[in-house]
Amino acid sequence: MKPGSIGTDTDHAIEVLRNGGVIGFPTETVYGLAAAASNSVAVNRIFEIKGRPRNHPLIVHLNSLTEARHWSADWSASAEILGALFWPGPLTVIVTKALNVHQEVTGGLETVALRVPNHAVALEVLRGLEGGIAAPSANKFGKVSPTTAEHVLADLGSEVDYILDGGPCSIGLESTIVDCSANTIQILRPGGISHELISQVLPVAEQVTGPSRASGMLDSHYAPICRLTVVANVNEAQSLLETQAANQQARIIDGSSDPTLFATQMYSQLRQCDDDGIDQAIVVLPSPNGIGHAIRDRLLKAAHGAQSQSH
Ligand code: TXA
Ligand code: MG
Repeated sequence: MKPGSIGTDTDHAIEVLRNGGVIGFPTETVYGLAAAASNSVAVNRIFEIKGRPRNHPLIVHLNSLTEARHWSADWSASAEILGALFWPGPLTVIVTKALNVHQEVTGGLETVALRVPNHAVALEVLRGLEGGIAAPSANKFGKVSPTTAEHVLADLGSEVDYILDGGPCSIGLESTIVDCSANTIQILRPGGISHELISQVLPVAEQVTGPSRASGMLDSHYAPICRLTVVANVNEAQSLLETQAANQQARIIDGSSDPTLFATQMYSQLRQCDDDGIDQAIVVLPSPNGIGHAIRDRLLKAAHGAQSQSH
């Protein structure tokens, strides 16, 4: 098959990964840019394709909690609780890495990020490969994450060996990242598993203290090309729309009425604004609970990124 081909052939995807290839890989959160975690050359290609700094570590996707334990030299009690409760699912734990985890995967850190995705096709590939799959989101560094195979094709089609189409992502936002490697457990990135849910089972700090290598922490991230403005309610969005200059095209996107549904569509809608040549997207924020917290996190970062671009 030629580069950029897209299809539903899991056996082919497994073969490409075994041979050191890089594929578009479906999960329930967003599509990943995947390589066998045991193959340093293939993992290096992920960084080249994505244009990502090499010290930004990748998430290793695994088939089960049992397998995940082997990836850590010091599997923590908190990782065990979170894995047992929320895997397979949109949750990533950071733990002390096992000795044999390649430094390309961890960006030179002594910790590794692990996740068991809740997606039948992803799990089938993981079972077939019998090893971990390293994968960041399958977008160029700093840009909007892909939630369909077609998004991956549009962004990276000519650079990957295959795109495995597993349908549109059911969550649509990147996983919650929880640092379980230190005494104080911290959420580094909000996501599909909310702070409220996690704090029912573990004492967890929401605020990140000190520098983090979670790239979503950078100022400009998840950003579309158009100017993105976030507002608190629909009225505010309407008044803003009315003050637009005649030669400017603006579009209101309402994220407040059904946040769970909106999460599945948010990245598609931002991409659509760019495809339609919209100058400004005015997005109504949901309230900051449950998945709303993660949506606000992504939108505020995307809005910040868009401000620094000239349009
Ligand atoms: O839902 C997801 O998490 C998706 C799907 C494909 O699984 N993946 C994803 O990967 O969002 P990526 O690379 O776009 O974001 C992973 C984040 C990065 O910000 C990275 O810096 C952080 O996880 N990360 C990975 N390993 C880490 C570590 N050892 N310590 C701190 N942060 C880490
Ligand atoms: Mg990403």
